[in-house]
Amino acid sequence: MRVLGIESSCDETGLALYDTEAGLLAHALHSQVAMHAEYGGVVPELASRDHIRRALPLLKRVLAEAGAELKDIDAIAYTQGPGLAGALLVGASIANGLGLALGKPTIGIHHLEGHLLSPLLSEPRPEFPFVALLVSGGHTQLMRVDGVGRYELLGETVDDAAGEAFDKTAQLLGLGYPGGPALSSLAEQGDAYRYKLPRPMLNSHNLDFSFAGLKTAALTLARKEGPEAAADIAAGFQAAAVEVLAAKCLAALKQTGLQRLVVAGGVGANRSLRSRLDAEAQHKRFAVFYPPLALCTDNGAMIAFAGALRLAEAQGRDGRFTVKPRWDLSTLTAPA
Ligand code: KG4
Ligand code: ZN
Repeated sequence: MRVLGIESSCDETGLALYDTEAGLLAHALHSQVAMHAEYGGVVPELASRDHIRRALPLLKRVLAEAGAELKDIDAIAYTQGPGLAGALLVGASIANGLGLALGKPTIGIHHLEGHLLSPLLSEPRPEFPFVALLVSGGHTQLMRVDGVGRYELLGETVDDAAGEAFDKTAQLLGLGYPGGPALSSLAEQGDAYRYKLPRPMLNSHNLDFSFAGLKTAALTLARKEGPEAAADIAAGFQAAAVEVLAAKCLAALKQTGLQRLVVAGGVGANRSLRSRLDAEAQHKRFAVFYPPLALCTDNGAMIAFAGALRLAEAQGRDGRFTVKPRWDLSTLTAPA
């Protein structure tokens, strides 16, 4: 089965074609970062219009690269949410329009499920169950993952997301938007021991996070020390964020008794976080898995892949059914 994936929840237009036998055939991405940079953040209306401009040329590119035609698509997966409403509507409209025209099924995918399952696009592929650290611009969560759609929230941020804290700290250090990668590069030239920044909730005895205080501490320091201290502040900030993220991952593995950790989302591209987790994994004897580097941030491949897994599971149920002897009425959702 060949599944087309369409991601348009925020500021990246991503399309991809995933084959359940052959794997990822092609993916193409357009980042709107340069367009939004002069505004210091994503402008929703501009994002929607740009998704409209980019989606079909990207689709043509993906099909050409995969040596496929529209008729070879068996199903279409698209990001249904969460994200910017107008931006989501672009991907959803194109997906459903194509589905109608081709007579093929469409499936709406949760953006975070896309991130969560993306490490399964790498080899070796982690087996279920595993602990997942989801670290993106909008979310910081630890989940227990027992299978597709079987997710238990273990802990999450009580204020800013990790990526948001990287971005805001980068902005106050004059590194532009989105500053995560730039902050991380600057940190590599700095002295992480010059300033000891706070490790919020490190000893909170739960799996929740907080990053707002760390960001404020970096801001206060930057105002006091001036621009020549920027690299050391960046290094201090990154060391604090990485230490908290790594400590909570270890605590989640301990609490669940699992020995597999999966890291997904944009901040999962951070080199310092990866090397810290790799070192912990070797020392504490657990396995750690990441998506391919290019698929850490938003992309269409993770949406195509999550769609393929969900459709394959639904097909596998052909003719079989279950009943729910215990079923809480309040868990029902309105028809999509
Ligand atoms: O997953 P993603 O593409 O979008 C969301 O769903 O939010 O994540 C984007 C976030 C941004 O905050 C960006 O600054 C951060 O991931 N990011 C990084 C790095 N690369 C991307 N943060 C720290 N270090 C990096 N190397
Ligand atoms: Zn994302």
